[in-house]
Amino acid sequence: MAIETKVYKHLEDSAIAELGARLRDGQLVAIPTETVYGLGANGFDEEAMSRIYEAKGRPSDNPLILHVPDQEAVKPLVTAIPLTAQKLMDAFWPGPLTIIMPKSDKVPMRATGGLDSVAIRCPAHDICRAILKAAGVPVAAPSANISGRPSPTTADAVLHDMKGRIEAIADAGPCDVGVESTIVECGDDSVTILRPGGITDAMLKRVVSTVNYDEALSAPDVAPKAPGMKYKHYSPDGDMTTYVGAPRLVSQAMIDAMEAIKAEPHDKPLRFGFLMSDEVAQFLDIYLSSSDVPFEYVIYGNAADYRGLAHNLYSSLLAFNKAGVTHIFATGVPMQGLGRAIMNRMAKASAQKIVRVTGKP
Ligand code: TXA
Ligand code: MG
Repeated sequence: MAIETKVYKHLEDSAIAELGARLRDGQLVAIPTETVYGLGANGFDEEAMSRIYEAKGRPSDNPLILHVPDQEAVKPLVTAIPLTAQKLMDAFWPGPLTIIMPKSDKVPMRATGGLDSVAIRCPAHDICRAILKAAGVPVAAPSANISGRPSPTTADAVLHDMKGRIEAIADAGPCDVGVESTIVECGDDSVTILRPGGITDAMLKRVVSTVNYDEALSAPDVAPKAPGMKYKHYSPDGDMTTYVGAPRLVSQAMIDAMEAIKAEPHDKPLRFGFLMSDEVAQFLDIYLSSSDVPFEYVIYGNAADYRGLAHNLYSSLLAFNKAGVTHIFATGVPMQGLGRAIMNRMAKASAQKIVRVTGKP
């Protein structure tokens, strides 16, 4: 049976208290964070967490991240805080960094998918932390989308997927970062990145001597240490290809691909979607102005604007879904800094169709 989903747009103190109480009482509440919207439930309540899996259609072996308002709230959740974890919390919290720690008996197995470790993060979002504080319990929250679809960075996107499945949404406007947190496992003065995100390897290197990446991030046949990384993810409805290289070459490769698609037989009308930098947009301008195929586009900023691309990635894919786009042409970025996180998500959204265009720029 569908339940009523209340959207809170005015997040004054009384609303925050109400949202906190809903979470504590076992209801599902979508919460804003600086990365993406989360689908929150009481992290001590097995039944509430089971409802997360149901609402998302999430595979049950995929553990959840517990969200806390401050470092103090970590203590009951872990058997010990490793020294490296302490340094990371001091340096990057609140912020888009999830730290894997040894779990205490207070954390139900439902939260960790049977693992003896727990993922914990403190978001850099004032309203989020106020709701967490009001809840008074750790809040388990995966991204607030149906599993496999692009993650929501606006309350509207949450509503689209979760209407009738959850009790409430706290609408605090669009998320800043746009891609999920970095997940790390701690070693002795070292970390392993299980999922790249808003905190980059260079930032982590300021705090620990060694930063490794989970082997599975570059070897598709190796089992990832973060169970969720093995699943299909972020998939738009349209067939997406990501292009990386000099803007002129990228735009030419896109034009060639479009011409090839137009020449093939297709059973439904074509509609193209472009997620592109200013530079690629300039090169495509003339071609598109005489296009006989209808199209949608998002221009995210200049070619080196990783933050702009991260911020616009999921919302563009969802806008293309809404418009019924059949083929998506996206401009990727080099694998540096935030580019790692972006390309990790774009590769999945594109079902690994990444075209690296080389030649004279
Ligand atoms: O930015 C974010 O992290 C967002 C916002 C809402 O905070 N949350 C998010 O959650 O991305 P989700 O559920 O979509 O991704 C959680 C990831 C999964 O890949 C899961 O396998 C991994 O964290 N994970 C959770 N607990 C783990 C553990 N104990 N060990 C290894 N990986 C873990
Ligand atoms: Mg997710």
